[in-house]
Amino acid sequence: MKFSLSLSQFLCSILFLFHFHTTISSSFSLNHSSSNHLCAHHQSLSLLQFKQSFSIKSSAYWEDCQPKTESWKDGTDCCLWDGVTCDMKTGQVTGLNLSCSMLYGTLHSNNSLFSLHHLQKLDLSFNDFNSSHISSRFGQFSNLTHLNLNYSNFAGQVPLEVSRLSKLISLNLSGNNHLSVEPVSFDKLVRNLTKLRDLDLSSVNMSLVAPNSLTNLSSSLSSLYLWGCGLQGKIPGNIFLLPNLELLILRDNEGLTGSFPSSNVSNVLWLLDLSDTRISIYLENDSISNLKSLEYMLLSNCNIVGSKLALFGNLTRLFQLDLTNNNFSRQIPSSFGNLVQLRYLDLSSNNFMGQIPDFFANLTLLADLDLSNNQLNGTIPSFLFALPSLWNLDLHNNQFIGNIGEFQHNSLQYLDLSKNSLHGPIPSSIFNQENLVVLILASNSNLTWEVPSSICKLKFLRVLDLSNNDLSGSAPQCLGNFSNRLSILDLGMNNLRGTIPSTFSEGSNLEYLNLNGNELEGKIPMSIVKCTMLKFLNLGNNKIEDTFPYFLGMLPELKILVLKSNKLQGFMKGPTTFNSFSALRILDISGNNLSGSLPEEFFNSLEGMMTVDQDMIYMTARTYSGYTYSIKMTWKGLEIEFVKIRSFFRLFDLSNNSFTGEIPELIGKLEGLQQLNLSHNSLTGHIQSSLRFLTNLESLDMSSNMLTGRIPVQLTDLTFLAILNLSQNKLEGPIPVGMQFNTFDASSFQGNLGLCGIQVLTECNNGAVPPLPPLNFNEEDGFGWKVVAMGYGCGFVFGVTMGYIVFRTRRPAWFHSMVERQWNLKAGRTKKNARIHGARRN
Ligand SMILES: *[C@@H]1O[C@H](CO)[C@@H](O)[C@H](O)[C@H]1NC(C)=O
Ligand SMILES: *[C@@H]1O[C@H](CO)[C@@H](O)[C@H](O)[C@H]1NC(C)=O
Ligand SMILES: *[C@@H]1O[C@H](CO)[C@@H](O)[C@H](O)[C@H]1NC(C)=O
Ligand SMILES: *[C@@H]1O[C@H](CO)[C@@H](O)[C@H](O)[C@H]1NC(C)=O
Ligand SMILES: *[C@@H]1O[C@H](CO)[C@@H](O)[C@H](O)[C@H]1NC(C)=O
Ligand SMILES: *[C@@H]1O[C@H](CO)[C@@H](O)[C@H](O)[C@H]1NC(C)=O
Ligand SMILES: *[C@@H]1O[C@H](CO)[C@@H](O)[C@H](O)[C@H]1NC(C)=O
Ligand SMILES: *[C@@H]1O[C@H](CO)[C@@H](O)[C@H](O)[C@H]1NC(C)=O
Ligand SMILES: *[C@@H]1O[C@H](CO)[C@@H](O)[C@H](O)[C@H]1NC(C)=O
Ligand SMILES: *[C@@H]1O[C@H](CO)[C@@H](O)[C@H](O)[C@H]1NC(C)=O
Ligand SMILES: *[C@@H]1O[C@H](CO)[C@@H](O)[C@H](O)[C@H]1NC(C)=O
Ligand SMILES: *[C@@H]1O[C@H](CO)[C@@H](O)[C@H](O)[C@H]1NC(C)=O
Repeated sequence: MKFSLSLSQFLCSILFLFHFHTTISSSFSLNHSSSNHLCAHHQSLSLLQFKQSFSIKSSAYWEDCQPKTESWKDGTDCCLWDGVTCDMKTGQVTGLNLSCSMLYGTLHSNNSLFSLHHLQKLDLSFNDFNSSHISSRFGQFSNLTHLNLNYSNFAGQVPLEVSRLSKLISLNLSGNNHLSVEPVSFDKLVRNLTKLRDLDLSSVNMSLVAPNSLTNLSSSLSSLYLWGCGLQGKIPGNIFLLPNLELLILRDNEGLTGSFPSSNVSNVLWLLDLSDTRISIYLENDSISNLKSLEYMLLSNCNIVGSKLALFGNLTRLFQLDLTNNNFSRQIPSSFGNLVQLRYLDLSSNNFMGQIPDFFANLTLLADLDLSNNQLNGTIPSFLFALPSLWNLDLHNNQFIGNIGEFQHNSLQYLDLSKNSLHGPIPSSIFNQENLVVLILASNSNLTWEVPSSICKLKFLRVLDLSNNDLSGSAPQCLGNFSNRLSILDLGMNNLRGTIPSTFSEGSNLEYLNLNGNELEGKIPMSIVKCTMLKFLNLGNNKIEDTFPYFLGMLPELKILVLKSNKLQGFMKGPTTFNSFSALRILDISGNNLSGSLPEEFFNSLEGMMTVDQDMIYMTARTYSGYTYSIKMTWKGLEIEFVKIRSFFRLFDLSNNSFTGEIPELIGKLEGLQQLNLSHNSLTGHIQSSLRFLTNLESLDMSSNMLTGRIPVQLTDLTFLAILNLSQNKLEGPIPVGMQFNTFDASSFQGNLGLCGIQVLTECNNGAVPPLPPLNFNEEDGFGWKVVAMGYGCGFVFGVTMGYIVFRTRRPAWFHSMVERQWNLKAGRTKKNARIHGARRN
């Protein structure tokens, strides 16, 4: 959720410096006379054939890669080629480093690479070998000391033959997500590679390997990376006792158990990462105190046993301590004041309480401090603002009160103080933080200042979130164009007045613009269309006086548009440009004064609503994935906040306007819709039977119009329909029976004097009311109503819940309506509250 320098980045930069050094020195030792080729012809040929077997593919993922093989030219000395190293005496190719060279294609076992027998170092990392298997012929490089195939899209099994490479010092197969290793191969590998110093199998699937086979790892091992390998079972204690072990990363193996030993741990260990494992770490007298050389200790979401948190204070060489997500409910121990070398301290997502202790004043090297999601209280002490190197300060979601102090230095890049009870003015020193990238001061209901235009001095901002405060005054005009990097601007739920900034300009990176819930007036500025990256635009609940802003249809990426509860008026004419609003998935223009007939041409351009997708991911900002899109929507007259929205969700809300005329038949094209609301207008004519094509519909509200005629029996085909409201119209004739319709009660139909059927307790003239079939709720079908109720609690609308897939694939929708009844019975009158609560909690 932030731009902090991760450990791996940090290590990478160290490694980079190291390799930079060695690369420079090795290239100086080369003899640059090209007249006399050092490289034998057959080697040039093999290398050129190797080059031919791949294409060059650029990937946005690895921006800085260079196509090294492009410089390889027949007739020149291959020992001088980019990425090739030769033995100066014999001219044999001993090193091939094509890391990050944009190679793409399959590496078959007949590749000429395997004729370069003398290779000692081979690095093919950061390429795309298109799910090639690692050929058993790798086992023929008998003198290989370094083999690095990290992040290069290899798949299948690691071949047994790799264990023949008994001179290997470094083996790195990390980041190949479809690679796995079998127990036999791993066991041989571990036994035979006796010179191994660095082993990295991160993200290689090792779920079949018994952790016990790690026992046989070479005693020369200095770094072991098994991050996310799916290891299951008990880790042998002697792993921690390997005498030369410096780095140990077992992170993210949730099935890994065992315990961290209390003594004899390698005294050169400087990095230990047991996060997201179940390995027990004991906090009792002098257990972890022995780890004197430790500089990085990462224990987030761990199995920490015992309460002597103060023991961490003995690890006085610590650079980084991560104890996030461990349920500590106590004060921050004063012994942490001994950790004067700390750069990174992450205590987030625990229940730490009390005030921020004074010793923080002594931790002058702190660069990254994350105390978010705790129960800390009191004021934020001024010495935090005086820490000279601080670039990340995250205190969100605590109980801090009082003013925000003045920062004494200009080192900040990330500041999140949201969800506290801070008040008072914004400190002017924030505007001097010229490297600030993220500024989040949301949800402090007592922040009452005006937004000053000096905020526009922060030219590197990507995220500016001041939402849910009590800010007043006008939004400064410069907010539209002060930073081309800005991608999230959230000033929603304040008391801002004046007009929407009209200074949006070309090159804008804005993805998310939320001004919902203010007092903004005037028109929607045309310049917004210059923000071509915009995906989310919420201007709802203001006092905007305008006609429907057709020009927004030019925004090619716009997915969510909310203009509800403003003073929009006039007819909605059809769009003039091609492809207008074609990406839109959520459109809410309810609660305005739009009139005239429903615009058919407009419906016709909403391609995003015509498509159905199954994408379960939550919509988040591309540039800042911690930022999930959320909106408030009206549901049965209640406003509910959807904190996360799944990508497949489609909603169209035209309710509470003054639309007249008939519902166009074209509405049947908006096949992706889950929610359609046309209620509280003055629509006339029949209910279109084309609605039956909206097969994904879960909620349909056409209440409080002047619709006439019968309810089309085809609506019973809408098998996912959970909520139907046709009340307060002039409908007549029998209420259709069967399927979904058996689950709707009187409230769906009331206020239509001409309707008959059991729901409205009126017999139809031409015969007896057909009885409702019995509800045959069946617990044994695999999931009981609890699961569904949980879905309710977490996300509420079916389309937005985790239960969605279950519904979609295993159950017809009449089932979940039935479950809703069960829920009603259980929850009774508190149901609505429970739902709202649940939706928020998510
Ligand atoms: C290096 O180049 C020089 C000419 O510049 C030549 O005399 C010498 O033999 C070369 N050395 C090797 C090892 O090729
Ligand atoms: C290959 O070169 C890259 C830099 O381009 C470097 O990071 C990497 O360590 C090198 N690999 C080997 C095995 O030296
Ligand atoms: C990549 O793999 C796919 C699937 O096996 C195959 O169809 C395609 O031809 C391969 N592309 C190259 C360049 O090897
Ligand atoms: C190498 O093997 C692959 C797959 O078996 C084959 O398609 C390709 O033609 C072979 N290449 C050469 C040079 O023999
Ligand atoms: C491997 O290294 C040894 C010792 O340096 C050397 O004698 C031998 O020729 C090398 N083998 C190959 C295939 O390069
Ligand atoms: C172990 O390495 C030796 C070479 O040092 C090799 O001869 C032997 O086959 C290897 N064993 C396995 C199981 O790969
Ligand atoms: C691949 O792994 C090696 C270590 O085994 C590392 O030195 C190298 O930097 C990695 N490659 C890249 C491109 O980072
Ligand atoms: C393996 O490669 C990854 C990716 O470059 C790197 O982060 C890691 O440090 C390497 N592992 C070892 C043990 O050098
Ligand atoms: C470790 O810390 C505890 C509590 O702060 C202290 O009592 C103990 O003496 C320390 N042990 C060592 C070995 O420094
Ligand atoms: C802060 O929290 C502590 C522990 O929960 C409590 O005892 C104390 O009264 C609180 N202080 C304030 C100012 O709220
Ligand atoms: C800060 O460090 C000084 C000097 O070591 C020490 O005297 C003081 O007690 C420390 N302050 C706190 C609050 O730990
Ligand atoms: C806002 O500030 C007032 C007075 O300072 C205080 O009484 C009130 O509790 C604060 N509100 C919140 C939500 O913190």
